Amino acid sequence: MVTSPALRVNGLRKAYGDVVAVAGLDFEVGSGECFGLLGPNGAGKTTTLEICEGLLAADSGTVEVLGRTWDSAPDELRELLGIQLQETQLSEKLTVDETLTLFQSFYRNARSLSEVIDVVELGEKRSARVGALSGGQKQRLAVACALVGNPQILFLDEPTTGLDPQSRRQMWDLVSQFQADGKTIVLTTHYMEEAERLCDRVAIVDHGRVIAEGTPNALIDAVDLTHLPPPEPRKTHATLEDVFVSLTGRTLRDE
Ligand SMILES: Nc1ncnc2c1ncn2[C@@H]1O[C@H](COP(=O)(O)OP(=O)(O)OP(=O)(O)O)[C@@H](O)[C@H]1O
Ligand SMILES: [Mg+2]
Repeated sequence: MVTSPALRVNGLRKAYGDVVAVAGLDFEVGSGECFGLLGPNGAGKTTTLEICEGLLAADSGTVEVLGRTWDSAPDELRELLGIQLQETQLSEKLTVDETLTLFQSFYRNARSLSEVIDVVELGEKRSARVGALSGGQKQRLAVACALVGNPQILFLDEPTTGLDPQSRRQMWDLVSQFQADGKTIVLTTHYMEEAERLCDRVAIVDHGRVIAEGTPNALIDAVDLTHLPPPEPRKTHATLEDVFVSLTGRTLRDE
């Protein structure tokens, strides 16, 4: 159920030269929801997020975040948003504490370092340089940088890509914790298990358009397994992957 949307996207379009990345995209995210954008490589997910995050200008369409627009309230929105980019490049020479102190200094209403470090479970790594962290630890530090400003809405672009199962679970826990505080999350993922587990609703994006939207269960229930190519009809339970295959005849992941 969508009440007082935290994010409202209407008729969004963005082309890079001849490449149409976002081709008229609409969706709404309710306050307190965890919303997932799913779709294959190049579907337009990152472009959409970056427009919502105020990092990229749309060619046309409107974006309203927490009832504000980037044109009318950019400074206010920067205080309210937490952003984790698909590829975060933090300075390898800084320690975990120094990195977070830097990000903390950007915000008026920032959280304490120790609180955020606890949430991302990096307590033992506070003095370690970023260059010495594992991939999963770097990813959690990137999320810590997104959380330190005490945001009302968190944007996560493929937060668990490349993580081992344990790091992935840690990331899921911290997303759930953030949502338990009544806050809103918009994420992208290629992992269907992740979407089914974390997201209240998902939008499946293909070629810059939303081709299906709903709760993971409703989308899965609507799949007719008998129409999937073999050997899928032998399965008794559909997945979000099957939803995509049944809509497009293609698989969601390249690899
Ligand atoms: N800076 C850019 N210049 C030119 N084309 C771009 C640029 N950024 C993205 N594109 C193109 O726009 C389309 C959408 O890219 P986008 O990164 O939004 O997809 P995505 O859904 O996030 O994909 P992925 O799952 O691989 O992260 C792709 O065809 C991509 O090649
Ligand atoms: Mg992307």
